[in-house]
Amino acid sequence: MIQQGGAPGSGSARPAAPRGDFPLQTGADHLIRLESITKIYGSGDAAVVALDDFSLDVGAGELLAVMGPSGSGKSTLMNILGCLDTPTSGRYWFGGEDVSRLNETQLAHVRNRRIGFVFQQFHLLPRLSAWRNVELPLLYRGEQDRRALALHALDQVGLSNRVDHRPTQLSGGQQQRVAIARALVTDPDLILADEPTGNLDSVASRDVLAILRDLNQQGRTIVIITHDPEVAPVAQRTVVMRDGRLVHGVAA
Ligand SMILES: Nc1ncnc2c1ncn2[C@@H]1O[C@H](COP(=O)(O)OP(=O)(O)OP(=O)(O)O)[C@@H](O)[C@H]1O
Ligand SMILES: [Mg+2]
Repeated sequence: MIQQGGAPGSGSARPAAPRGDFPLQTGADHLIRLESITKIYGSGDAAVVALDDFSLDVGAGELLAVMGPSGSGKSTLMNILGCLDTPTSGRYWFGGEDVSRLNETQLAHVRNRRIGFVFQQFHLLPRLSAWRNVELPLLYRGEQDRRALALHALDQVGLSNRVDHRPTQLSGGQQQRVAIARALVTDPDLILADEPTGNLDSVASRDVLAILRDLNQQGRTIVIITHDPEVAPVAQRTVVMRDGRLVHGVAA
C-alpha cells in the first residue's frame, strides 16, 4: 500500500515527487487538501468504513481522474469534495478554508459559490431551453446578467448554435455539454464530475472529455470520478481507490 508522503498540513516545500509517485501537488498552490479523512456509515456491527485515513491534495489548475472498483469509496469521496457530506474525522481544506466542520448552511454556501457539478444523468430541466437551464444557478444568487453569462458558458462548450433548444432536441453529448455550461456559469473554483461520460457513446464521450480538457487548459481545476479508461489520457494525474484508500497514483 502506497500512502501519501509527507505529514498532511505540514506545508513544507518538498521536492517534486518523481513520475509515477503521488501526490505530486505540494505547497501553497493546492486547491484541495484532504487530511486523513475517514468516513464511516452506520455504527456498531453495521458500520462501513467508506474512506479510511484518506489523504489527497489537488493542485489549483489540475485535472485529476479518480478511478476504482465499485464500492471503493468514489461517491463518498465525491460527496465530501463537493461539500454534500462531511467526514467522520479528518480535515478538508478547500481554498485554504477548513470546510470539514461547517454546518449545512455554510456547506451549501461553499457548494453554490465555489463548486460546479456534472453528473452522469445530465439533470437538465426538460421544459427549459439550453440557456434557461444554464442560467439556473445564477437565478438562485440573484445575478443580473444571466442571459449574457449563460450564452458565454454555452459558447465555451461549443453550443452557441443550440441555445434555444430544449434537452429533448439535443443529443446526449450536447445535453452533457449544457450541463457542463451550467457548472461553469458561476465561475467555480472546482468542477466536480461524477461519471460524466457514463451515459454517452464513445464519440460523445470524447467530445465531452475534450471540452473538460480545454477548460482545464484554461486553468480550471477539475476532478473526474469515473470507470471510463478514456478519461485517464486527458487527466494530468489518475489516482486509484480501493477499500476507501488510495492504492495507486500515476502522473500522465
Ligand atoms: N449511505 C450509506 N450507508 C451505508 N453504507 C454506505 C452508504 N453509502 C455508501 N456506503 C458503503 O460505502 C462503501 C463505498 O461506497 P461508494 O458509494 O462510495 O462506492 P463507489 O466507489 O462510488 O462505488 P460505485 O462505483 O459502485 O458507484 C460501500 O461499501 C458502500 O456499501
Ligand atoms: Mg459511486
